[in-house]
Amino acid sequence: MTEVVVVTEYDVLAEVYEWLISEAKLPPADFAASFDDVLGLLPSNAHVLDCSCGTGQLAVGLAGRGLQVVATDASEGMVRRTAELAEEYGTSVRALQANWEELPNHFDDDTFDLVFCVGNSLHHAAGATGRGAALESMSRLLRPGGRLVLTSRTWELVRSRGSRLDIGDRLVRRNDRDAVVVYRWEIAPQWEDEHHIEIAIAQVDATGSVLVRSELLSCWPYRHEDLEAELHRAGLRTEVSTFDPESENYTVVASKGGPG
Ligand SMILES: C[S@@+](CC[C@H](N)C(=O)[O-])C[C@H]1O[C@@H](n2cnc3c(N)ncnc32)[C@H](O)[C@@H]1O
Repeated sequence: MTEVVVVTEYDVLAEVYEWLISEAKLPPADFAASFDDVLGLLPSNAHVLDCSCGTGQLAVGLAGRGLQVVATDASEGMVRRTAELAEEYGTSVRALQANWEELPNHFDDDTFDLVFCVGNSLHHAAGATGRGAALESMSRLLRPGGRLVLTSRTWELVRSRGSRLDIGDRLVRRNDRDAVVVYRWEIAPQWEDEHHIEIAIAQVDATGSVLVRSELLSCWPYRHEDLEAELHRAGLRTEVSTFDPESENYTVVASKGGPG
């Protein structure tokens, strides 16, 4: 019988993902420290879920602080890399493959004190319906009073620039290899339409050979105001939002329950 190998989005990029992470966030402790404000509100030994863990820098950084960490991702390749990073750092992270809608099949409601969905992940949920379902799953898993931390691109800015090619103006060096990172943005006419981002990492070796790894990713942008309304519908009340229409990214912290 032939073995069927299911390839999900990000399985190719998983192999070279460090070229896409900023130098400041590569050390797990530093990635976790970028959320010090919200981490400071947690009880010790809190239960934390990173539900789009990528290659695991945040999850491993959180585990290094003594938190009980679960890391999930839709991509098998990402989950594998997270488990490898946890082993490398000698930390305990439970890593498993699950997309957002599947999370309630794996965990009881009210399990986590904090859920992270960071690093430009939520736009991969399929439109308003997919996003609503994803946020609903994250909300269910939070205990009352628990918080969701979400970071996002400012799609208002991205869409205003239209379709384009962004070629990195510096080589990025990781694992003793230089690469040029290229983003190709396919901006659809309407906000609601499926958009695409193609990401290519072109590694150049000392002989001048170039090895390119690339993936075409689907995404569905959203306005900040729509996200706020969707969080509210999922039972989450925004406590903090750093949204600024002129900045590239923003962070939202929303808590479960309470007035609102
Ligand atoms: C841009 S990466 C961010 C990774 C990591 N959070 C970081 O900050 O480096 C987006 C991640 O979201 C994951 N993802 C995309 N769609 C998903 C879904 N439906 N459910 C769970 N994870 C998903 C991808 O596999 C990928 O690892």
